[in-house]
Amino acid sequence: MNLLDVLFSREIKRRTGAHAISIYIDSVDSKKRSRSRGKKAIKASKNTKITTKKAKASLFRRLDIRFPWLKLAVACILGLIAIFDLLDLTISKAGYSGPKLAVAPFSKHVRISERDFYGKKLVALTFDDGPSAETTPKLLDVLYEKDAPSTFFMLGSRAENNPDIVKRIKKEGHDIASHTMYHQNLIRISRGAAEDDINQAKDVITKLAGKAPLFTRPPYGNTNDAISRMMDTPIILWSVDTEDWKSKDKDAIVSTAMSEIHDGAIILMHDIYPSTVEAVPELIKTARADGYEFVTISELADQRDVNLSDGTIYYNLRP
Ligand code: NI
Repeated sequence: MNLLDVLFSREIKRRTGAHAISIYIDSVDSKKRSRSRGKKAIKASKNTKITTKKAKASLFRRLDIRFPWLKLAVACILGLIAIFDLLDLTISKAGYSGPKLAVAPFSKHVRISERDFYGKKLVALTFDDGPSAETTPKLLDVLYEKDAPSTFFMLGSRAENNPDIVKRIKKEGHDIASHTMYHQNLIRISRGAAEDDINQAKDVITKLAGKAPLFTRPPYGNTNDAISRMMDTPIILWSVDTEDWKSKDKDAIVSTAMSEIHDGAIILMHDIYPSTVEAVPELIKTARADGYEFVTISELADQRDVNLSDGTIYYNLRP
């Protein structure tokens, strides 16, 4: 087929509404015609006898001919759906008026992260005093298996001894934070010593994780204005104390956590006790059954639209 034949076949398709058409062209001089252009082409076309064999039109084509308005109606409906989607006018789960967590039902894009927090209460598990070569890897296995990103407030001195664990914590999507270098009570030592301890931890963790610690938690939660300024990161304390260091009992840890848990809670635990590692899977399961989902501190701040500021103390991030 040359160009003219193609144009003819298109025209015939358009007029007949048939999808499958066979064209028989009887040309006086097809070679000559195929080279002709413009007016010459029109002239040549007059000398061309065209017959068509109309095939049975497809269902869609027949519908289109019978109901020409149908296409427009479908286009309008799709347009409305797209507008609803863009404006995030969520239709499902009527009545839910939580924070900006909704993913519109027709959306293929999840806005904040891959994880879906729609209609969930959020809590952040935080682990202090590690990493420990014995217990932290086991805890990381659990968190990985349960898909529960957490926040690790590590001691610089312990991080230095467990560089591979620090790298694994980073790689597996947890937040890395500082619990100072040697776990000293910062308000009981000199300002200079406190500053050294804070900065040393920051340097060690930055070197191992490839990124500065996002937050600081002073040992025992003890700080004052001068020390808080030295930390140069947001200061994250807690609203739920599992007292895992005291009970060292799996069931007690779970029940203490569940009795105090709330939306936006920051839960204090320690990744250096086997009983804590044992309690975590059950705590995750129980809390999830109650509508909670687990997030890192930075995810929690994102979800709550909070810009955490350096030197400020946060105990929780309630909605
Ligand atoms: Ni501690």
